[in-house]
Amino acid sequence: MSEPIKPLLTSRYGVKESWKLANAESAGAYATARQALTTRKPEELKEEVKKANIRGRGGAGFPAGVKWGFLNPQAGEQIYLVINADESEPGTFKDRSIMDLDPHRLVEGAIISCYAIGAPVAYIYVRGELAFSLKRLEQAIAEARQAGYLGERPFGVDLGHPIEIYVHSGAGAYICGEETALLNSLEGRRGEPRLKPPFPAVKGVFGMPTIVNNVETIASVPDIIEMGGDAWSLLSRLPGDGGVRIYGVSGHVKNPGLFEAPVGITMRELIDDYAGGMLGDRPLKAVIPGGSSTPVLDPRRKVHAPAEDHPLHKWHGMSEIDVPMGVDTYRALGTMLGTCCAIVMDDSVNMVEACRNLMRFYKHESCGQCTPCREGTGWLVDVLNNLVHGRGKTEDVDLLVNISNNMMGNTICAFADGTAMPMLGMVQKFREEFMEAAVNGVPDGVRHDDSVRGMVEGAA
Ligand SMILES: Cc1cc2nc3c(=O)[nH]c(=O)nc-3n(C[C@H](O)[C@H](O)[C@H](O)COP(=O)(O)O)c2cc1C
Repeated sequence: MSEPIKPLLTSRYGVKESWKLANAESAGAYATARQALTTRKPEELKEEVKKANIRGRGGAGFPAGVKWGFLNPQAGEQIYLVINADESEPGTFKDRSIMDLDPHRLVEGAIISCYAIGAPVAYIYVRGELAFSLKRLEQAIAEARQAGYLGERPFGVDLGHPIEIYVHSGAGAYICGEETALLNSLEGRRGEPRLKPPFPAVKGVFGMPTIVNNVETIASVPDIIEMGGDAWSLLSRLPGDGGVRIYGVSGHVKNPGLFEAPVGITMRELIDDYAGGMLGDRPLKAVIPGGSSTPVLDPRRKVHAPAEDHPLHKWHGMSEIDVPMGVDTYRALGTMLGTCCAIVMDDSVNMVEACRNLMRFYKHESCGQCTPCREGTGWLVDVLNNLVHGRGKTEDVDLLVNISNNMMGNTICAFADGTAMPMLGMVQKFREEFMEAAVNGVPDGVRHDDSVRGMVEGAA
């Protein structure tokens, strides 16, 4: 049983009307920002974030301190901070809890981050469907501005530049969570990803150096600055992947929800200790670890790392779900930590049908800019439809692999990889079920309602 920790990120979730400035301040909000802006230098703050070893919470796990270090503005260039609140990854619902239940933590994090990187303006790009979060944020920003924490002289300090925060609503496209599509959308363009390089830190919004970070990444900054980067980093169980994070669990567990815990707990702990174990005590069949774009874990599978220098050698022979959840450990396991929001499936789930459900989402959300993604997602759904409806052939299973391999690495952004990787993982780990569907289809009652599917993709 893992020990519960003293909550940091979620510490004000239980405070009555925590989204109001007076209540958030009584519970500690803005003390760190005030202290940082009045007594510390931007360079010191950047150094603390670097020492914290915080890996980006938006999915890719890039170290925030390193990203901030890429900024090298040329004469006349203005730096921007862009906070990614698009949160559209299926199974992921952590950022909205910060915006809804403690918006002042995000505003405080944004103020400290703007000061640290020298950005006069931060934009928070909120997923279109999250109208409630948008309202909460707007109210929090208005209150912070009125209190003098934003504007020309935040906390009464002349920084040489103002700090302003603006909220921008997306229109409900998953691709606008990809950072360069987000920047295009923010500029009023079509939300399609840009070629990289140049990376946003060099040429971002309005052609200016821009740091794009996830909501949870920025919301972690006040605690990092208050505790000091080293101390915050040590809250984690893993080296080089610091701190605490908000884990999400949905699916077949007794107590689905959000749980703050150190980086490096195991999936088994997350399911059994935090989420109360499997619903109805049924067996765990599979778990998608970090939002739908991450390859599935199979508890029957053992870690194969006999070589002593393998990063997972310590867990050789143990179940995949006993490996600590970290950006690097999960990469070594052949999956990704992603957004750290798990989708838990019991033995009632048919993996072919689960896969078809996911792939329909990707087909619908592909922006269509790159042919392998636009066509590949459609082909995956067509082949899966055939398998599910008993029109398939055994060769279709390898066709799914072939299509996925042709999508990987052949597009402008990581959307296609985020579709192909989970598809490949499903076939690799549950091949027998795909072969079975190729012969017999998926029985009625296990399949999702065709009329619902029809809304998304037309007649099957
Ligand atoms: C298709 C796609 C969707 C994404 N959606 C999100 C999202 O909703 N929120 C987010 O923070 N990052 C998302 N990302 C990752 C961002 O591109 C980017 O890496 C992240 O915002 C950087 O912040 P971080 O370093 O703090 O994680 C997405 C990436 C891809 C390829």
